[in-house]
Amino acid sequence: MLIGGLAALADCHMSGVQDSIDDLRRRKAQAEAGGGQQRIAAQHARGKMTARERIEQLVDEGSFVEVDSLVEHRCTDFDMDRNVIPGDGVVCGYGTINGRTIYCFAQDFTVYGGSLGEMHGLKICKILDMALKTGAPVIGLNDSGGARIQEGVASLGSYAEIFFRNVRASGVIPQISVIMGPCAGGAVYSPAITDFVIMVDKTAHMFITGPEVIKTVTNEEVSFEDLGGAATHATRSGVTHFTAQDDNDALELVRNLISMLPSNNLERAPIKDTTDPPDRECENLDELVPLDPTLPYDIVDAVEEVLDDGAFLEVQADYAQNIVIGFGRLGGHTIGIVANQPKFLAGCLDIDASVKAARFIRFCDAFNIPLLTFVDVPGFLPGASQEWGGIIRHGAKLLYAYAEATVPKLTVITRKAYGGAYDVMSSKHIRGDYNVAWPTARLAVMGAEGAVQIIHRRRIGAAGDPIGERERLIDDYEETFANPYRAAALGYLDDVIQPRETRAKLSRALGALLEKEEIRPARKHGNIPL
Ligand code: HXC
Repeated sequence: MLIGGLAALADCHMSGVQDSIDDLRRRKAQAEAGGGQQRIAAQHARGKMTARERIEQLVDEGSFVEVDSLVEHRCTDFDMDRNVIPGDGVVCGYGTINGRTIYCFAQDFTVYGGSLGEMHGLKICKILDMALKTGAPVIGLNDSGGARIQEGVASLGSYAEIFFRNVRASGVIPQISVIMGPCAGGAVYSPAITDFVIMVDKTAHMFITGPEVIKTVTNEEVSFEDLGGAATHATRSGVTHFTAQDDNDALELVRNLISMLPSNNLERAPIKDTTDPPDRECENLDELVPLDPTLPYDIVDAVEEVLDDGAFLEVQADYAQNIVIGFGRLGGHTIGIVANQPKFLAGCLDIDASVKAARFIRFCDAFNIPLLTFVDVPGFLPGASQEWGGIIRHGAKLLYAYAEATVPKLTVITRKAYGGAYDVMSSKHIRGDYNVAWPTARLAVMGAEGAVQIIHRRRIGAAGDPIGERERLIDDYEETFANPYRAAALGYLDDVIQPRETRAKLSRALGALLEKEEIRPARKHGNIPL
């Protein structure tokens, strides 16, 4: 009797346990189903993956650990309490990329259009807090109708909590945003604060106000794509850093980018073994720069020739193309490259190029990534539109960023380094650590023709043969200044090197500079001319 009673009790316990496990399974299945099969099919029909598929693709296989899958919204307005989906439209957690921990969230467009309500936002906040506490990068996969309309100010509050955390984490952990669907209104400001924005072509859009509102307010007609598509932000606004062809391409880009970055500001980027010898000669560089200083060439050829295995990850490749920025490796160490591009605007610095390079330099400096600068710059771009647009304060950003940076700074002058742009582009005077020039370099206040016109105007005017006199004076000026030897004699250059020696010299300099420490006066923060 006693034994029978105990057995019945055990059966009862077992079935109770089974019930609670079934209940858990049901809840988890409900979370995983998101907004249901029909909406998932619609997402696929648009060429988009679901939030969970994206995360699976992003992290190392089987490494994802989800948190907060059972979080629910607590809104009762607009009959919201009749439609509660566990997870509240965002999948959050952590996993690894190439074995290194990352935190991530992916908005689920099938649940209320991925819109951000109070709890949805607080889930993202928890991920940002965990990433910051543990010093790991955070990756946001955005696909959302913005603030959840039904939740009103609670949605806006959660957005602001996210923005605050993005700012607090800036310069401490790398933050990457991938835009994989709509991203509108103030919602764009979280991606804008993060370090890199990747946008999927055709399926993603970013804007503060959409085409309908613009039509009502300003009577302007503009399509979704022209207003806020990936091409617009890659070429015109400079909001994005990379354009991906589809979801897969975007997630692969994130993996590649993460592999080049340290996990936080106290670490260095992982070293990647290479079979490319650090002292490899770069014969192709000897003939890269045309003898005629007015002829263009592609500076990316020099960048690729010098880097390990020729691998260069260009950032903002289609924006302000007169300056090139991106990541590569030298002797396995990640470095950030900034290079004037003679193929566009003769490599002049303008507003967009200054801002583009300044932000990149500050990222590299914050995350212990040494900088390599290739200089071929005739100066700042002249013109009323540049002056009225504020080239003075925007150009100052680049100067500020270089002067502020304390990471190892290597500089190679390939051809022109004229005027204020010479000073700005990582010169010795703003604490370049290893500054060298190729024999084709010319360091001067300006080019020969302009200089002769200014300092010898009267002499040319009075000459019997003004054209011949002008040419003689130009030759004279070129002999004096159109070379690197004045600067080398003053110690403004550490060396003049053959182009073919560039990789070997830079590899050695980087090796010697890796442990560099430079102390600046303590302060709350500087006041960069924004
Ligand atoms: C609640 C939303 C929503 C939102 C979309 N949905 N946006 N629910 N709040 N903000 C829901 C829809 O009701 C629909 O639900 C589902 O998501 C899919 O939306 P559709 O309109 O059917 O999809 P689509 O045609 O692809 O259009 C997507 C869209 C559009 C372009 C995002 O829905 C849209 O314009 N939404 C509003 C965008 C917006 O103005 N958001 C506020 C921005 S201001 P069902 O049940 O039918 O599937 C903002 C302020 C942030 O975000 C401030 C931060 C400081």
